[in-house]
Amino acid sequence: MTLPRMQPGDGVAWITGASSGIGEAVALELARRGWTVAITARRLEELEAVARRSEGLPGRIVAHAGDVTDADSMQAVVSGVEGVHGPIALAFLNAGVAPYTRAGALDIAAFEKAFAVNLLGAAKGLAALLPGMSARGRGQIAVNASTAGYGGLPRAAAYGASKAAAIHMCEALKFDCDRLGIRLQVVNPGFIETPLTAKNDFPMPFLMKMDEAARRVADGMERGGFEITFPRRLSWLIKAVNLLPYPAYFWLVAKVTGWDKRKD
Ligand SMILES: NC(=O)c1ccc[n+]([C@@H]2O[C@H](COP(=O)([O-])OP(=O)(O)OC[C@H]3O[C@@H](n4cnc5c(N)ncnc54)[C@H](OP(=O)(O)O)[C@@H]3O)[C@@H](O)[C@H]2O)c1
Repeated sequence: MTLPRMQPGDGVAWITGASSGIGEAVALELARRGWTVAITARRLEELEAVARRSEGLPGRIVAHAGDVTDADSMQAVVSGVEGVHGPIALAFLNAGVAPYTRAGALDIAAFEKAFAVNLLGAAKGLAALLPGMSARGRGQIAVNASTAGYGGLPRAAAYGASKAAAIHMCEALKFDCDRLGIRLQVVNPGFIETPLTAKNDFPMPFLMKMDEAARRVADGMERGGFEITFPRRLSWLIKAVNLLPYPAYFWLVAKVTGWDKRKD
């Protein structure tokens, strides 16, 4: 079956985690490309500020606050958006958090938070979207995971594991989604300059600006392949490193991340 790639005429777009960062930038990029974009996050004031930035663009942005960790909230947002603006044709399940944790004092709350938002938050978004899209026999959903989900990185036990699980979830669901006429995609960005990475105190090779990342996401949605990943040099490098035998993998990752020189 050839899956359609959604166009603005097919319905509206919905983005979670759009009060800042990549979600905000993708919302503005889709509005530039003519979409009506419903945006969701917990902070309504920030969402409304993003919506105001769409004035004068070919499309528009509308704010619908919600918490991705709450399944009822996700159902209510999807029903609210579809009731007012029509069917959601394209969704970007992007909300995420990146708590670090170290082995010396393993922080269970970091695992709970990362999995609640990054994995279960995306699953709750999917659960709210899939019945309507299945009934219509068409739709397109992209889940934002991360190249950090490809393999273990220092301090990223909680974040990386939740992103690996998100990639796995999308791979597994794609088989069913294909049959339902729903194009499911996974987005695996490298390092993007956002509030989330502002706290990072380690080298971030090929760091990309948010607006460029947003263009790559929107282009990837228009192209339609399963994985949207950028910068490609970094993602192919990480994919290659993950094929190495473990001793070489750990040595190289420690070098590239500066872990071998850290004293903390
Ligand atoms: N920046 C990078 O280098 C990078 C690389 C790979 C993947 N990613 C992924 O990209 C996504 C966006 O990250 P970002 O870098 O743009 O960070 P960001 O600016 O911190 O954005 C995170 C967004 O998620 C929302 N969010 C967090 N918890 C939420 C919840 N419980 N319910 C609803 N929304 C929630 C935040 O809004 P509220 O606080 O208002 O709820 C915010 O809008 C994340 O999934 C992240 O893992 C980022």
